[in-house]
Amino acid sequence: MTLEHDVDHATPAAAGYEWWRSAVIYQIYPRSFADSNGDGIGDLPGITSRLDSLAELGIDAMWLSPFMTSPQKDAGYDVADYCDVDPLFGTLEDFDDMLRAAHERGIRVIVDLVPNHSSDQHLWFQQALASAPGSRERARYIFRDGRGENGELPPNNWQSIFGGPAWTRVTDPDGVPGQWYLHLFDSSQPDFDWDNEEVKEEFRRILRFWLDRGVDGFRVDVAHGLVKDPQLPDYTPSPDAASMGGEETPAPYFEQAGVHEIYRDWHRILSEYDGDRALCGEAWVSSVEKMALWVRPDEMHQTFNFDYLMASWDEAELRDIIDRSLAAFSGVGAPSTWVLSNHDVVRHATRLSLTGENPQGTGIGPDFPGIPKYEDGVRRARAATTLMLALPGSSYLYQGEELGLDEVHDLPGEARQDPTWFRTQGERYGRDGCRVPLPWEDSAPAFGFSHTGESWLPQPKRWAPLARSVQAQQPASTLNLYRQLLQLRREADLGSGTLEWVPDFGSGVLAFKNSGVLVVANISGADVTLPDGHEVLATSTPIENRTVPRDVTVWLKEITHE
Ligand code: GLC
Ligand code: CA
Repeated sequence: MTLEHDVDHATPAAAGYEWWRSAVIYQIYPRSFADSNGDGIGDLPGITSRLDSLAELGIDAMWLSPFMTSPQKDAGYDVADYCDVDPLFGTLEDFDDMLRAAHERGIRVIVDLVPNHSSDQHLWFQQALASAPGSRERARYIFRDGRGENGELPPNNWQSIFGGPAWTRVTDPDGVPGQWYLHLFDSSQPDFDWDNEEVKEEFRRILRFWLDRGVDGFRVDVAHGLVKDPQLPDYTPSPDAASMGGEETPAPYFEQAGVHEIYRDWHRILSEYDGDRALCGEAWVSSVEKMALWVRPDEMHQTFNFDYLMASWDEAELRDIIDRSLAAFSGVGAPSTWVLSNHDVVRHATRLSLTGENPQGTGIGPDFPGIPKYEDGVRRARAATTLMLALPGSSYLYQGEELGLDEVHDLPGEARQDPTWFRTQGERYGRDGCRVPLPWEDSAPAFGFSHTGESWLPQPKRWAPLARSVQAQQPASTLNLYRQLLQLRREADLGSGTLEWVPDFGSGVLAFKNSGVLVVANISGADVTLPDGHEVLATSTPIENRTVPRDVTVWLKEITHE
C-alpha cells in the first residue's frame, strides 16, 4: 500500500474540492458483511479481514450501519450506548483496527448516528421509567399523560412507521398504569425530546467521541424527524403516503423547522476538526428542492437523494429528477448525491423491474406478483448503475449490489426478523430481503460469510454463481463492471464534472456529456447506433455491432487525432 493512498486528515482540500463532493461511498451493513467468529452475524474483525476487496473495488469511503451497543430489536438502530461497540460486533479496539486498516487503504469511514431515538435499554430510558412524571429523567424523552377519563387513551393518534400505535403506556414502579411515551418506530425505540438541552449536549459529546477516534463523518438516521410539533396534534397520513415521510404537507413529526438549528450546531463541531469531516442526512422529504434545505452551507454536507432512488426506470422521470437535483443542490453550493439501494429498500436488481406497487419499507414476499427473471432484473440494474456512476456528485452503493444481488423475496416467514413483520403480524414483509449475508466464495460454508456455515438470514442457493470469488474470474461479471466504472470515473473525475444533455438519440434514451465522456442510456427506446469517431469505454452489458439495445448504458469517448 503506498502512502499517497493513505487518508490524510491534516491537509484539507481546497474549498469546493472536499472529498465528499465526488466520493463513491459504499454502505456496509455489518451484520451481513463478513462474520469472523462463526456465530452467523457479521462483525468488525470480519470487515477488517475483507477490506482488500473494497480497496480493489475502488470506493472512496464506507458507511457502516450501527454497530454500537444495542439489544438489536431494530438491527442496531436501537442504541443503548452510543460510545461503545456491541459485543456482537467486537470491541472499540476492533473498531480502531478497522478504521486504521481502512485509512491505510485510502478508504474513509462514516459511522451511523441515531439521534431520533435510543433503545429502551439506554440508561436514560431506564432512569426515566424509574422516575416520576415531570422529572428531569422523563424530560429527555417524550412522556405525556393519556387521554380519556383515566389516561387510558394515547395522547394522540400517531401511528408507528413500523405499524401499530406510536405511543406505549408505561407501568409505574408501584404497578399502576402511568404515562405514555412516543416512539415513531418500534416500542423499544423511545424518541428523544430534542428541545431538551441535556439531549443536545449528550449528542455533542457523542459526535466528539467518534471524531476524536478519527471517523470521517456521520450518516444521520431519520434526520427529518428529531423535532416534533410541540402541540403533538392528531395526524392521519394520506393512504398512499410513504411511511418515512415525503408528503407535500409534512407530518407534525417530520421536517419541522427546528431541526436545522441542530445541524448548524453539529456543523460547527465538525469544523473544529481537520480532514473535511462530513454529515450525510437521511431525510425522506417530498422533493429535492426541500432536501436542499438540509445541505445549506452551514448545515449538513450531503443528504440522500431518495427521489432518485424512488424514480422508476423511465426516461422522462429520470431526466426530470437529475435536472432538479443538480439545480437544487448546486443552488445551495452542495453536491448532488445519487443512490439506488440501501438496507431499507428492495434491491434495485429486483425493484427497477417490478411490475407491482412497492411502497418503501413494506418489502415484498413470496406471493408478490411480477418478480422479474434474474437476468432481466440485473441487466436493467447494471444499466441503472452505469448511468448513476457517470453523474456528477457523490454516489452511494449498498453492499452486494456490486455482485448484482437481487432481493430475497422468498425468505420463509420463520426466518424474518424485521420489526415491521412482527408489528403488522406479517401483513408487511419489511426489509429482511435486502439484508441477507453476502456470498464471498461459491463452495465455502455460508458462501464464505461465516466459516461455521451459520447465517442470521438464510442465503439462497441461487447465489452460488454470484459469489465474489466466481465473479472475480469473469471479465464481464457485475463485479468487474463496478470495478471498471469506478476506475474510469476516478480517471475522468466524473464526480467533479458538469452534465450537459445531448439530445440526438431519440425518445426513451438519456444521453449526456460529463468531463469528455459521452453517456448513452437506452431506457426504453429503439436500438441506438453509436456515433462514429467514438471509442467505447464501458458498457453495462456487452453489445454487438455498435448497437445499444434497451436496458443498456454505454460510456464513450471521442477519438481525437492529434
Ligand atoms: C432509518 C434506518 C432504518 C431504521 C429507522 C429507525 O430509516 O435506515 O433501518 O429502522 O431509521 O431507526
Ligand atoms: Ca460474528
